[in-house]
Amino acid sequence: MTSLLHERFPDLRENLPHVALGTRPTPVRRLEALSTGAAEIWLKDDGAFGDGGWGGNKVRKLEWLIPDAQRSGRRTILTFGALGTNWGLAATLYARDHGLRTALALVDQPVDDHVRAQLERHRSSGATLHFTHSKARTVAMAPWLLARHRTGFKPPYVVPAGGSSPVGALGYVEAALELAGQVADGVLPEPSHVVVPVGTGGTTAGLLLGLRIAGLRTRVVGVIVNDQLRLDHGQVTRLARRTADLLRSRGADVPDPGADPSDLLMTRDWLGEGYGHATPTALTALARARDEEGLTLEPVYTAKALDGLLQMDADGRFGDGPVLFVNTNGPR
Ligand SMILES: Cc1ncc(COP(=O)(O)O)c(C=O)c1O
Repeated sequence: MTSLLHERFPDLRENLPHVALGTRPTPVRRLEALSTGAAEIWLKDDGAFGDGGWGGNKVRKLEWLIPDAQRSGRRTILTFGALGTNWGLAATLYARDHGLRTALALVDQPVDDHVRAQLERHRSSGATLHFTHSKARTVAMAPWLLARHRTGFKPPYVVPAGGSSPVGALGYVEAALELAGQVADGVLPEPSHVVVPVGTGGTTAGLLLGLRIAGLRTRVVGVIVNDQLRLDHGQVTRLARRTADLLRSRGADVPDPGADPSDLLMTRDWLGEGYGHATPTALTALARARDEEGLTLEPVYTAKALDGLLQMDADGRFGDGPVLFVNTNGPR
């Protein structure tokens, strides 16, 4: 299936390869029962993207990262995450399908049954695991990790945590173009705001840039769920700009992202005690999504984002909306 970015900028076909891993467009629908505030609430369900239960934002990023690694002749992807990283597992499984090995450097996080089960999946996935415990130790071990995963003279293809490099962020530039197509087709009205969880920033940055490329006026609201990384307006805007620079360097004439500061709102108000710590109000949002809309969320990312959306809507922060919630999908 042709990428919408390639359709719009044919020069990218040669210079920035894409492999389709999911079925697009992902479905959108109105969340009637949750639309109790001033704004209509809509869902774009990226849980339906990809297969094997690993759909969602990770797979959209891998559609660009895997062929970019192959194009540069690398044999191994070296990436990072916490012990229960869904990103690391999705990267390993999809990379394996494309003949690439994966090495994961894992930092500590609160261990519950889910994280324990996830570690078992990592062990049987074929990834080489390095337990680096903390960000500082990961940085200190970087030269060793790079040398350890060299193939011949080729270093590994290094991808930051969550796949949030400029290449990975293209997944959500593409998603924004897809959304614009759905708006043009009358499947949903143009959202005033789109709300997503922010774990490493690539999803938010990609959307910010993609919405501008698509010519939509939709503003991005990032609900920060991770206190282990610096994730603020400047950081996400910088990643969006680096993604625009990447596209320009490969032959696409794209506008600058987020020229207006109000295009992107970043909030930490729904983080609670920190990454991986559930909050009572997010658990309520999770139960409401399940019981009232038949929508499965998880407590680390998507429930906190929906919680933020519902409370901001109740406070009238979106006006009449409509507001779009992207289910980035964290399989449990
Ligand atoms: C379900 C889910 N939603 C959102 C995110 C955050 O996206 P990003 O890392 O691009 O900010 C992640 C992973 O990091 C995730 O697993």
